[in-house]
Amino acid sequence: MNTVISYLFGGDNLYLQGGGNGGGNGGGVKKSQKEEIATKIKNITEEDAIRDYEKLKHADLNKITNETRTGNKFVDHFTFLERLETVSKKGMSYFEFIKDTEYHKKRYIQNLLNYQKGEDKHVALYRVFKLHCGSIGLFKPLTAMELYNKFKPNTVLDFTMGWGGRLVGACVLDIPKYIGIDSNKQLKEPYNKMVKLLKNQGTKTKIKLMFKDALKVDYSKLDYDCVLTSPPYYNLEVYTGTKSKN
Ligand SMILES: C[S@@+](CC[C@H](N)C(=O)[O-])C[C@H]1O[C@@H](n2cnc3c(N)ncnc32)[C@H](O)[C@@H]1O
Repeated sequence: MNTVISYLFGGDNLYLQGGGNGGGNGGGVKKSQKEEIATKIKNITEEDAIRDYEKLKHADLNKITNETRTGNKFVDHFTFLERLETVSKKGMSYFEFIKDTEYHKKRYIQNLLNYQKGEDKHVALYRVFKLHCGSIGLFKPLTAMELYNKFKPNTVLDFTMGWGGRLVGACVLDIPKYIGIDSNKQLKEPYNKMVKLLKNQGTKTKIKLMFKDALKVDYSKLDYDCVLTSPPYYNLEVYTGTKSKN
């Protein structure tokens, strides 16, 4: 049993060092370390993201299935790290999970890790995290596109915009306007980068983003004809800046 622990954790204490990134759920792991870990799990370059966006533009919406993942890489290129910060139904984020070496000694966790000997340790641990703690959901750009195609909105209001799937879907289809709101201020920087790339890719969608509590927005001042969102799942996922509701 200890062999697996030392195989996975021995020598490299990348995520066991002190520090914090000022607000995330996985305090104790530095932001640069978190970025490194996120890249180990999903190494999606800007070129990969652009290629994925191009594929999305040519996607045949009549042929997509639950397994079709086109567009997810584009979203993950910007916001995957924040998904790793999100506390899952087992009460911990991925960054907390990887620090809890006592927890890893549980037999079923050990068995799951054992099966993956030889694999990159973060790839292996993330699989275990998803199986054991539940994965943090991603609303696919393709799903948003299907809905926009059906309802042909002029302006979409998304008051808990999350990881960006509905914004990306709107931009691919050049929906005239997208208004996004989210209380997680750590999403501001990734969204700024995402919007920049979407504009560079030539979208005609006008984008208005607000990083504030959706309950404090005066909706009478906003003009919209479609609401599409993915609200918080009570305690199944707890996001940076929100509190668990016990
Ligand atoms: C279910 S998640 C969306 C994730 C979704 N599965 C996706 O792929 O985009 C809900 C989002 O609501 C945000 N949120 C929670 N409470 C909020 C509030 N009071 N006002 C605005 N946003 C809020 C969270 O920060 C989170 O990004």
